[in-house]
Amino acid sequence: MKILAIETSCDETAAAVVENGTRVLSSVVATQIPFHRPYQGVVPELASRAHVVTVNRVVAEALRQARMSLAGKNRPDGIAVTVGPGLVGALIVGRMAAESLGWTHDIPVHGVNHIEGHLLSPLLAVGGFKPPFLGLVASGGHTELIYTSAWGRYALVGRTRDDAAGEAFDKVAKMMGLGYPGGPVIDRLAERGDPKRFAFPRPWLPGTWDFSFSGLKTAVLYKLREKKSWTPAEKRDLCAGFRAAVVEVIVGKTVAAARTLKTASVVVGGGVAANALLRRELARACAAAGLRLAVAPPALCTDNAAMVGAAAYYQIRHGRAKNDLRVQSQLHVPFLTGKIGVFRLP
Ligand code: KG4
Ligand code: ZN
Repeated sequence: MKILAIETSCDETAAAVVENGTRVLSSVVATQIPFHRPYQGVVPELASRAHVVTVNRVVAEALRQARMSLAGKNRPDGIAVTVGPGLVGALIVGRMAAESLGWTHDIPVHGVNHIEGHLLSPLLAVGGFKPPFLGLVASGGHTELIYTSAWGRYALVGRTRDDAAGEAFDKVAKMMGLGYPGGPVIDRLAERGDPKRFAFPRPWLPGTWDFSFSGLKTAVLYKLREKKSWTPAEKRDLCAGFRAAVVEVIVGKTVAAARTLKTASVVVGGGVAANALLRRELARACAAAGLRLAVAPPALCTDNAAMVGAAAYYQIRHGRAKNDLRVQSQLHVPFLTGKIGVFRLP
């Protein structure tokens, strides 16, 4: 089954063709970051406008790279589009593009949840992963631990109470004048920094699997206020100290939650999963705990349409295709069976 997928929920206009939820035949991402950079954050109206200008070209390129066409014999079996969560105007552009193509070429269109896309994106890299597994989605908008008991059956284990991990990276980078988006810049500088020079607090939030990163961000702010200017070497060390604190908490809680839930597998996706230290530490900690780990490849961590094509495939395969195209800014993963309240350190 080949799915043409479209993703326009935030600041990337993306299209992809994915076969059977695992094989990426093409994945095209047109980033809008240069348009938003002067404002150091995503400007919703600019995002919608840029999607309008770009979406058709990105779809055409994804089809071309996959050697498919909407009209010919080798056409997709379905079109998938992100319907939430995200910026409403931006989501509507993707939905209209998908619906117009589906209607014109008589191809069914499926609405897909963006978080479900991030959650299932690691499955694009590895074969043979089946529920149950614990998923970590760490992005600019979400930091969540989601337990998948069966395909399409999810339970929320923990979530951030304030800033998402990516948002904390972006805000710290902004405070340090490092530009937007901050995650990749901090990651790059931290690679050459000393994480021990500036020790930042680890927000463990005992008694819950929830996260909180805003206090840590404030700790960096107070540190920065201690003097007027910082040398490049000091900046690298600040980045390394901040990154180490975020990563230690995310990895520690993810592994501990997996052991408490007695699940053998962990999957990790979302923009922050591109972080070099997070990837190294997850691999180390999961190996030590005997957990099987799948992390999305870096190019499929940040927003892309391949993950949307994968999520649509599992949705269709497991009988959940509802063709629900209502755009909703605040969607959460579908079929959520409630929050798992158990917190026990293994
Ligand atoms: O998944 P994504 O593209 O969009 C959302 O759904 O939010 O995630 C974007 C976020 C941004 O906050 C960005 O700073 C962060 O992911 N990010 C990173 C890295 N690359 C992207 N954070 C830390 N380290 C990175 N290497
Ligand atoms: Zn995303």
